[in-house]
Amino acid sequence: MSNFDQQYSRYGTYSTQWDYVQDRFGEKELLPFSISDTDFMLPDGTIDCLKAAVTRGFFGYTRWNHLDYKKSITHWFQQEFACWIDPEWCVYSPSVIYSLSVCIQLMSQKGDKIVTFTPCYDAFFNCIGGNERELITCSLENVNEQFTIDFTALEKVFAIERPAIFLLCNPHNPTGRVFTEEELTHLIALCNRYRVAIISDEIHMDVRRPGKIHLPILAFADQIHVPVVLLSSASKTFNSPGLGGSYGIFSEEGLREKFLRILKGRDGLSSIPYPALLTTMDCYNNQKNWVEELNQTIDANFFELKKILDKDTRIQFEIPEATYLGWLNLEQLPYTMEELQTVLVKREKVAIMKGETYGAEGKRYLRFNLGAPKEKIIDGAERLMRGIRYLDER
Ligand SMILES: Cc1ncc(COP(=O)(O)O)c(C=O)c1O
Repeated sequence: MSNFDQQYSRYGTYSTQWDYVQDRFGEKELLPFSISDTDFMLPDGTIDCLKAAVTRGFFGYTRWNHLDYKKSITHWFQQEFACWIDPEWCVYSPSVIYSLSVCIQLMSQKGDKIVTFTPCYDAFFNCIGGNERELITCSLENVNEQFTIDFTALEKVFAIERPAIFLLCNPHNPTGRVFTEEELTHLIALCNRYRVAIISDEIHMDVRRPGKIHLPILAFADQIHVPVVLLSSASKTFNSPGLGGSYGIFSEEGLREKFLRILKGRDGLSSIPYPALLTTMDCYNNQKNWVEELNQTIDANFFELKKILDKDTRIQFEIPEATYLGWLNLEQLPYTMEELQTVLVKREKVAIMKGETYGAEGKRYLRFNLGAPKEKIIDGAERLMRGIRYLDER
């Protein structure tokens, strides 16, 4: 049995998803399919690296600004996405959302507008509002759970609102879209035309369905004539946010230098946590096969989930192109989402994220985290179906 089939307990690890499920769902000991981390252990080889470091016992201030670290990132982009990145463009950051916050400060002024597609990852709302910028949303067009960009609506938003930044999430959380070359070049052309800077959060880039190709924004660097930054991390793929560490890729030297001044000077974050450094380097240099196995596991999980959900024709669900997040449209159920959540939490003891967390478009949705062994996914899906049956028969 591989690491991907085995269900290990995560209780007692101060896990946000497991130990603190009550914070979001009001009850303890629910089976969680909630925030986006997975129930998978780090790759064995990476655990061995960390064990060796713990055995040596040295955890002093640690430098990230060397080619061993930066080349592990550029190697991954070349190997996985056939995308050339200059190692000098890479900068450590403690987390993607930290980088997002600093980039917002560098690329816009207080009161400026920032556009993103909705539904969207909920931390974007807080980060934009917390930096006293105004969020302008542009809904993805939804035709039978296939999400596309409404470019006419987007151009109108750019022309009327004159935003400073477009915040792209690609692959997209929560719909799982992987934007195509055609979509990205169209988006870039609009950003060029209306002088809108681009921040591209690509943290979900590695988990995709077979044949779905991820195109990093910097693959289009020579077409982009506005400030641009790519933010990502090994932490989503390898389930290592508890170790810290992420990176920004800045092709423009001026922006990169400004970011570094804030990171190191204002915010005192010169040193990377040594375990985070080792993890990123080992994962990106040595763990390609592990990611393939992860993707096979997630593909199989989606297949199982769809098989179960398709038994009720009122549930509209399509397997997404990327991410380990299922986006389930339950608008045809004849009761409120509050009634459903109450039954799921109190009777079925299962915690599935409310879609409304991701904006108004998600009001009648659930976001189901499939980053776990198949047995757990089946168990969770069956609890959801039992909850629905209970409400039907009430
Ligand atoms: C789109 C997206 N960006 C960023 C993050 C969080 O990244 P970090 O923990 O590095 O801030 C997540 C986590 O769920 C995410 O889904």
